[in-house]
Amino acid sequence: MRTSIRWPFALPASAALVVAMAAAASVSGQAALPDRGLPRLQKQGTAAQLVVDDKRFLILGAELNNSSASSLDYMKPLWPRLVATRLNTVLATVSWELIEPEKGKFDFRLVDGLIEGARANDLRLVLLWFASWKNGKSNYQPLWVKTDQERFPLAIDEQGRSMPILSTFSDVNRDADARAFAALMRHLREVDGRKHTVLMIQVENEVGVLGDSRDYSPAANRAFAGPVPKELTDHLRRHREALVPELRELWTANGSRSSGTWTEVFGPGKPAGKAIPVRTLSPPLTAEEHETGWRKLYGPVDEIFMAWNYARYVNHVTEAGKAEYDIPMFVNAWLQQRDHAWPGTYPSGGPVPQVIDVWQAGAPAIDLLAPDIYVPEFEELCARFSRSGNPLFIPEARGDTRGIANAVLALGKYDAIGYSPFGIDRFAGAESELAKGYEVVSQVAPLILEHQGKGTMTALLLDRNGQPQTVRLGNYDIEARFSTRPFGPATDASPERVAGLFISTGPDDFVVVGRSMNVYFTAAKSPENVGLGTVEEGVYADGRWVPGRRLNGDETPEWRALRFRSESYGIQRVRLYRYR
Ligand code: DGJ
Repeated sequence: MRTSIRWPFALPASAALVVAMAAAASVSGQAALPDRGLPRLQKQGTAAQLVVDDKRFLILGAELNNSSASSLDYMKPLWPRLVATRLNTVLATVSWELIEPEKGKFDFRLVDGLIEGARANDLRLVLLWFASWKNGKSNYQPLWVKTDQERFPLAIDEQGRSMPILSTFSDVNRDADARAFAALMRHLREVDGRKHTVLMIQVENEVGVLGDSRDYSPAANRAFAGPVPKELTDHLRRHREALVPELRELWTANGSRSSGTWTEVFGPGKPAGKAIPVRTLSPPLTAEEHETGWRKLYGPVDEIFMAWNYARYVNHVTEAGKAEYDIPMFVNAWLQQRDHAWPGTYPSGGPVPQVIDVWQAGAPAIDLLAPDIYVPEFEELCARFSRSGNPLFIPEARGDTRGIANAVLALGKYDAIGYSPFGIDRFAGAESELAKGYEVVSQVAPLILEHQGKGTMTALLLDRNGQPQTVRLGNYDIEARFSTRPFGPATDASPERVAGLFISTGPDDFVVVGRSMNVYFTAAKSPENVGLGTVEEGVYADGRWVPGRRLNGDETPEWRALRFRSESYGIQRVRLYRYR
């Protein structure tokens, strides 16, 4: 169970209202009525949920390819395919170079077109602010920024070479980005402040230094040789017990210092002269290192130093935007992973799990840190990103059968506010696995929202060649076994990975969503036998249960399991009873 949420919910509702009023006033030049329906995050038990128009909202989303939203003509035929995919939200890029092609002259026609397209198709948007950085590099800044390196300095590697990455150690870089972002948010307030088509903003994309462990420019070296800012050491001291263990252990191993230079407080960085290749393949890793190396820290002070500096920069940009229009904002992470174990082979300083606390200290205006999860260790990453009170949202991931299973796990077990596979242009359509999965998840979305954060819902993953899985919920242990023989001969329709979702709606009542599995219930703390009282399959229509067949006999194997077929996810409601 995650620790209690202590961040970023420091703002009482009344204060949030004041911020909203200030934002409204800044647009019209006069006090405007606060808009209570603005998208915001709100606690429910241990969960943080997205609320819009005063209703909880579960993002069943997908992200467009990077360049799609740069052409409204390109988008035209895509909208109906997105609708057919059963999405409720589209994640779309807004690029700095396109909204501010000339310094100080803004063009929001693309943004307006996107919003119109979304509204016409009854979809919401999460906008991705591609500005100073995208995947560690800088290529979305306008040409007038790209071509003026004197004014807009780049990061420098250890060998003294420029990297195509705007340096975080430049107030000019930061302020130019912040001004453009503020203009965007002011515009959104004007065109969307009442309708709330735009739910959230991702600020930048997968930030961090790629190609070396840190920025070695003269300004960066000066900061690195200087003291760790007091705000950071204060944060570490205040949250000592709640810090992620990777960071706490490192800090403790170096004496839990509350002041000192970066290396005094966090230990040594990358060994001098060590080249950072694109992939962590040399020196050859042993098989064991290949498996585990991506969970270790390498010269972590460099990464912590960059995390602090990216967080400060991003926080400044975010604050400028929120001062105009205050809706939830997040930062996404390119993860440390196999073949990308050393900081710099993945963007060093991005919001990866070991530096979550550093980001929280440096960027309090950011509402959550979001992993882009393409790696197989999906659940492990959900767990690592659910620490330190960080609400979970997955802006990039897979959209196939494995992706749908992962979505169910994230929403049902880790209380995620949403899930969004990347590159939807390539596979949107009614026949996609995503569409079939989202169709069922959207039926149970109201139930998921009702149960998040209360300890009355959980989920699990089952792999075709993996072991059965057991979870405890209420008074029952629930075991799910993968089944390739749902009824009759083995079938190839079984996907490699499926999820089971279990919602306890009463002491002996459960709603179960599953596919390719048999589900068994046993009493958790008693020797009594458990029987299936009644089992119904059915659908939820507008949140109301519409029963189909009453299941029994061959449809409930051995009269003691729920059976879910292989072809698609199904929903069953069961009432259990006990006998001796
Ligand atoms: C991660 C990035 O954040 C996306 O913008 C996109 O480039 C994908 N990678 C491509 O796989």
